[in-house]
Amino acid sequence: MKVRTDLVLKDIGQLLTMDGDSGADIGLIAHAALAVKDGKVVWAGNSDLLESNCVVSSETEIVSAGGSVVTPGFVDSHTHPLFGATRQDEFAMRAAGADYEEIAAAGGGILNSVKKTRLASRSILRENMMHHLAIMLSNGTTTVETKSGYGLDIETELRCLDVANEVAGEVPQTIVPTFMGAHEVPEEFWGRPDHYIDYLIAQVNPRVKEQGIAEFVDIFCEKGVFTPDQASRYLAASARQGFRVKIHADEFHDTGGTAVAVNAGAASADHLLSISSENIQLIARSKTVATLLPGTALFLNKPYPPGRKLLDAGATVAIATDFNPGSCFCDSMPLIVSLAVCQCGFTVEEALVSATVNGAIALGLEGSKGRLVTGFDADFVIWNCRDYRTIPYHLGNPDVEVVYCRGLKVYST
Ligand code: NIG
Ligand code: FE
Repeated sequence: MKVRTDLVLKDIGQLLTMDGDSGADIGLIAHAALAVKDGKVVWAGNSDLLESNCVVSSETEIVSAGGSVVTPGFVDSHTHPLFGATRQDEFAMRAAGADYEEIAAAGGGILNSVKKTRLASRSILRENMMHHLAIMLSNGTTTVETKSGYGLDIETELRCLDVANEVAGEVPQTIVPTFMGAHEVPEEFWGRPDHYIDYLIAQVNPRVKEQGIAEFVDIFCEKGVFTPDQASRYLAASARQGFRVKIHADEFHDTGGTAVAVNAGAASADHLLSISSENIQLIARSKTVATLLPGTALFLNKPYPPGRKLLDAGATVAIATDFNPGSCFCDSMPLIVSLAVCQCGFTVEEALVSATVNGAIALGLEGSKGRLVTGFDADFVIWNCRDYRTIPYHLGNPDVEVVYCRGLKVYST
């Protein structure tokens, strides 16, 4: 039976459906067409088969891709866009020789952002988030996870998550808010991190749950921040409260955060710049996605995460921007794809799967995002190139031409 359509994209030179089982299968169809109904993909295949599979009526909008590449929109599964002010002062200090961890230990870093975010009105938070979401859209990102974590008190954390949910209703992208009250130990709890964890579990998590403003929680497990024991305790309690869990793990030091993630059944363990060989094997045997953020390594001049080792071990690897005001002020998924290829040992195909399909898995959206197959959301990018390998090859200058979210054109150059 033929499927009904309200949008048909034809003359696609290369369609990357991402339909496949392996971490490198981009589901390439040459000379393709894509049919959409009510914001969902209803058919994707060779142009010659369009008429025999789809009803193309006078109601159907027909768009030509002019022989270009079409991919799913990127799924940026790790960002921190809810902040009161940027930190270019610290960037300049680092450029002059200061170290990121030293700046943080001296009250800069996350705690600098916390001061500014506590003072920020809803409209400042909205403006910052919307500004960067618009840049992300122009870079082909159609799904964005957005963490709180620069408030670290009940009032500011709830305000940030509420703003994220409000913005989610106004932007074309799909937004996935995450509660990251455990991003740092706030000043009021210095020297008492366990009490802060208690406070989050007893007072903040329940309010977040009750208001339905975040599906995931996240914690920064790192030397000088939260220990693996504290992270385990927080994630276990959060899971009992009905949250899905994520963790910033093994970023600067190998503290064993990856093992905490696997034991907690986390959706993802993120960063992993310093992951041990043992934990590479552990995460590879688990359902936890290894989310790599190579922009942070670039921005902080740290060694890149061991992408090739994780891929060879059989891990499900996602890549994301980590967009935030301190350690990676980068909203560009095309740049992250280039870094994965040029610095972390990914093939072009692996990097593209990691930026779409695997990002969706890290957000529990594997049934609707990251692929252009029947039943999935019609979130796609028309690129100004005819060979998909140009996407990471064209370093720092994305060839995004048109972006659709749920079947609607939402951006064009
Ligand atoms: O993911 N690693 C912890 N948190 C952020 C950095 C936040 C900041 O410096 O403001 C990250 O890189
Ligand atoms: Fe982060």
